[in-house]
Amino acid sequence: MVFIMSCSHSYQATSPDGTLKVTVNVKDGKASYALYKNNKQVIVNSALGFVFANNDNFNGNFIITGVLKETHDDTWEQPWGEDRYIRDHYNELKLLLKEKSNLKRKMNIVFRLFDDGLGFRYEIPEQENIKDFIVMDEGTEFNMPYNNKAWWIPAYKPGRYEYLYSRTLLSQMDTVHTPLTIETRDGFYVTIHEAALYNYGSMTIARRDTSSLKSDITPLSDGTKAHLKAPFNTPWRTLIVAQEPAKLLESRMMLNLNEPSKIADMSWIKPTKFMGIWWGMFTDVFTWSQGPKHGATTKNAIKYIDYCAQLKIPALLIEGWDYGWDGDWVAHGRGFSYTKPYPDFDLEKICKYAKSKGVNIIGHHETGGATINYESQLDSAFTLYEKLGVHYVKTGYVNSRMDGKEFHHSQYGVLHYQKVAETAARYHIMIDAHEPIKGTGIQRTWPNFMSREGARGQEYESITNGNPPEHEAILPFTRLLAGGMDFTPGIFYINNPKKQVSSTLAKQLSYYVIIYSPIQMAADLPEHYLNQPAFKFIQDVPCDWDKTIGINAVIGDYVTIARKDRNSNDWYLGSLTDENGRELKVPLTFLDKGRKYRAEIYADGKDADWQKNPLSIDISSKEVTCDSTLDIKLAPGGGYAVRFVAL
Ligand code: NOJ
Repeated sequence: MVFIMSCSHSYQATSPDGTLKVTVNVKDGKASYALYKNNKQVIVNSALGFVFANNDNFNGNFIITGVLKETHDDTWEQPWGEDRYIRDHYNELKLLLKEKSNLKRKMNIVFRLFDDGLGFRYEIPEQENIKDFIVMDEGTEFNMPYNNKAWWIPAYKPGRYEYLYSRTLLSQMDTVHTPLTIETRDGFYVTIHEAALYNYGSMTIARRDTSSLKSDITPLSDGTKAHLKAPFNTPWRTLIVAQEPAKLLESRMMLNLNEPSKIADMSWIKPTKFMGIWWGMFTDVFTWSQGPKHGATTKNAIKYIDYCAQLKIPALLIEGWDYGWDGDWVAHGRGFSYTKPYPDFDLEKICKYAKSKGVNIIGHHETGGATINYESQLDSAFTLYEKLGVHYVKTGYVNSRMDGKEFHHSQYGVLHYQKVAETAARYHIMIDAHEPIKGTGIQRTWPNFMSREGARGQEYESITNGNPPEHEAILPFTRLLAGGMDFTPGIFYINNPKKQVSSTLAKQLSYYVIIYSPIQMAADLPEHYLNQPAFKFIQDVPCDWDKTIGINAVIGDYVTIARKDRNSNDWYLGSLTDENGRELKVPLTFLDKGRKYRAEIYADGKDADWQKNPLSIDISSKEVTCDSTLDIKLAPGGGYAVRFVAL
């Protein structure tokens, strides 16, 4: 680390490969930064700082008292993930600031330049004149030089993150959630997001004028943004900068900006595939509540456990097993019990039976957003599950507000999700949260918080209100940059009149490669998988990877991803398209050199079409090497999935 006594008011740092540069200034007491890629401005002069309670500006009276520079380069191993080994290589610039007058309060701003982007955060050190403090506004700006194109979902809406992405000019953008992805006039792809979100409101992005953006921290119900104590470090504000969209999804900067695992023994944390007593609730077969169609009965559970064993899917989710579902459960989430099963559900017997069949049960805690009720039962609920050998829990927070008034993505929500993750860790329980807080890479530190929903998943699909086929060609460049998503892929009864999904069958298979989740569902009713040759792909495909490569993409049009299995030499490839059919040529240069593979290919049939003929699929195999090229044909709304079996 190099300490430089400050005599200037302007500093800069570059990424290890020299292509990204941040400049930081303190002028007339105000701190600001700008970002360049290949010497082109990506972010023009943008302000930094805060407003605390009582109109206390902590943003305009600074001098630099010192500057620290440091280079870091190491490689760490993930317990599970999209890449096994991750290189953490950056140049850091840390500015020590102090108010010139009055209280002479101190703040540091730390910038880390990676080859794939910039992360920066504020540090409020321990000091005499800041003890407890309340953030009213964080003034971080992200000013762009042009009125660029952006893909976004609106913030502060009742459906949380569950909206279709809009693609507009920045000048037409609402206040939005991150990850926010922007295509610049210079041909760069920039994703604004955050890393290591703890004890603070989540950052949304507001537009101030045509292309000037500013952080808008999600407020608590009293309008304040965060109640804190010094010392405090904010989450990292992150900007991935890539020259092509397919490279955005290879960025691991978000993980690098999180701390190593706080769970010392991670041997119990394991990715899994699962089926569920679940899709039946969306297709009028089952209900969560008691009654003639109650899904979570002992009889159904035993039947589904047998299906898991027969179909070689190692885990089963069971929803609707506990008291609280009858009537309007969204309005009465306080009525949920997490220890009292309905009378027709013999929890102990089911868990014992599952164990005898080698199937893991995935428990379920729907809260209806009533977190006070849930927190009051957390210990007893997890004690029960741990005792019964249940090590996975899917949680749910259906409601527009938590406890009737707070945003899910406010400091209140952030603290709640964290409490659940940390409590679950003590009971050796892995979490898959629906209606979650967005991912910010904290799975590096809390690897039991494995997956989340947090976008429109497949449960939104229906004939009248489905996700359009372009949706899955946008997710990899937006929501999925926040980490794994429980999208619930694998619907085989596509033209179910109760709920038609907007894809071909081959596209359903492609989701297993494109839409990463370490807890990955085969979402359809097991009956629909029987005697289906395409199901072999779901059995084969892993949900834990050694390496991930973005092959090609045009955001919203198509995307192709290749991933290597963590536990074998096999590779997998997924490709999908929007409503337009297309042909893509993919050189297989990613395959291991000198090795032969049998490519097991699941392609759209000649006449496949997501609306007219979604089930048409063509399954074939051929021998390939890294010198081969794949000619991929995608039907309208179609997809393509390959397993490359190492020979
Ligand atoms: C909404 C979740 O997203 C869904 O997967 C779940 O089945 C219901 N809530 C009930 O918890």
